[in-house]
Amino acid sequence: MSYYQIRGGRPLRGTVPVSGAKNSVLPILAATLLNGGKNVLHNCPDLRDVRSAIAILRYLGCRVRREGDTVTVDSSAVERWDVPHELMREMRSSVIFLGPILARCGRARLSLPGGCDIGPRPIDLHLQALQKLGVEIREEGGDIYCRAGDLRGTDVILSFPSVGATENTLLTATACGGSTRIINAAREPEIADLQEFLRKGGSEVAGGGESVIRVSGEMPRRDVEHTILPDRIEAATYLCACAACGGEITLTGAEPEHVGTVLQCLSEAGCTVRTAGRSVMLRAQERLSGLPIVRTMPYPGFPTDAQAPLMAAACTAEGTSVFLETIFENRYRHVPELARMGAKIRVSGRTALVTGGALHGARVRCTDLRGGAALVIAALAAEGESVVEDITHIDRGYERLAEKLTLLGADIRRTDGET
Ligand code: EPZ
Repeated sequence: MSYYQIRGGRPLRGTVPVSGAKNSVLPILAATLLNGGKNVLHNCPDLRDVRSAIAILRYLGCRVRREGDTVTVDSSAVERWDVPHELMREMRSSVIFLGPILARCGRARLSLPGGCDIGPRPIDLHLQALQKLGVEIREEGGDIYCRAGDLRGTDVILSFPSVGATENTLLTATACGGSTRIINAAREPEIADLQEFLRKGGSEVAGGGESVIRVSGEMPRRDVEHTILPDRIEAATYLCACAACGGEITLTGAEPEHVGTVLQCLSEAGCTVRTAGRSVMLRAQERLSGLPIVRTMPYPGFPTDAQAPLMAAACTAEGTSVFLETIFENRYRHVPELARMGAKIRVSGRTALVTGGALHGARVRCTDLRGGAALVIAALAAEGESVVEDITHIDRGYERLAEKLTLLGADIRRTDGET
């Protein structure tokens, strides 16, 4: 099992670059199926989840190569329209391939992605939306079989602004004649990035990042070159780490607007924050003060993916903080592990009450991607040495974490055990 050894209690100082966004590159990699041509993607982070998505593209018949942070996908020779279970289970969000495979091949078979560490992760909103567009769907033995009958554009209303359902609906709609409106669409910045990719491929899409997205006509097949937007959750994670440890860091290649709610919380907790162009600076001189209620919401509200990293910082604050997790059912799995480091957290349903205090080193185990990041932050802020185990969870969404933290003066060493 791979693990980090971290000696905590040191402030973080220095500059670190933000990588491309995991949650943008994944739907865009799926969307490279649409044009049956060449797609050049820059600023692609090298993450476990990205490798899982590339494995699916190669299984379907695409030629994919990486040169540094540029990934090139040639989707001209797609022969398959199914994603086998062993590839689906690698990454729950592989369901995002459903729309593009349908749009390209007219049919699709995926094994149901099933739940994951943070909740059951249903896909009912995805399937309801696709049926509205004319997709015939049947479930059998844990697989879903889809046939794109006569796809026709129409209004699709999402009962919840689901990010994945918005993306799957958008990607399917590019193959529908007529026009489609996605109403109550997710407004995450990654949706606008996907729209930008589709527009470069010749698709007429507008409204990405707002609540109503309009898609008209079928997508002409043009080669695309695109640069992935910065990862706002990675940025939030480093900001929370500095808030927890003290010091002063500057993030480069960021989108300050995309971390606005996180910056507001950290300012309210006593940090000094400054933004200039694509840089974000945070200084934490005093011990944090308790955070007013942090309620996770769809974008532009506070991001659920930053809840665990911010909670780790709140564990070191003076006073209490309250978290309300409104997006996922089971997103406090990091709490018992933080408690092993002396954190005082009481969970009742979707609410967590954190009483700040001192943290001490301990041996802890990652439960999921963002929970793992929270354990690293707590270990960096704790007095003494910690071991953070099962860090393959972290490899899913953070590129070169130990290297970047070392740039900021952290004492962190990675050991790769047999998997
Ligand atoms: C995306 O997941 C992100 N993943 C998640 O990031 C992120 O936490 C989430 O959006 C919310 O921002 C990627 O983009 C790859 P949802 P997604 O559909 O699309 C329920 C990370 O750590 N729901 O917006 O799966 C669902 O159960 C990951 O980087 C249904 O009920 O999120 C959840 O409670 C974790 N039915 C809520 O909606 C559906 O059909 C939000 O899910 C779909 C979702």
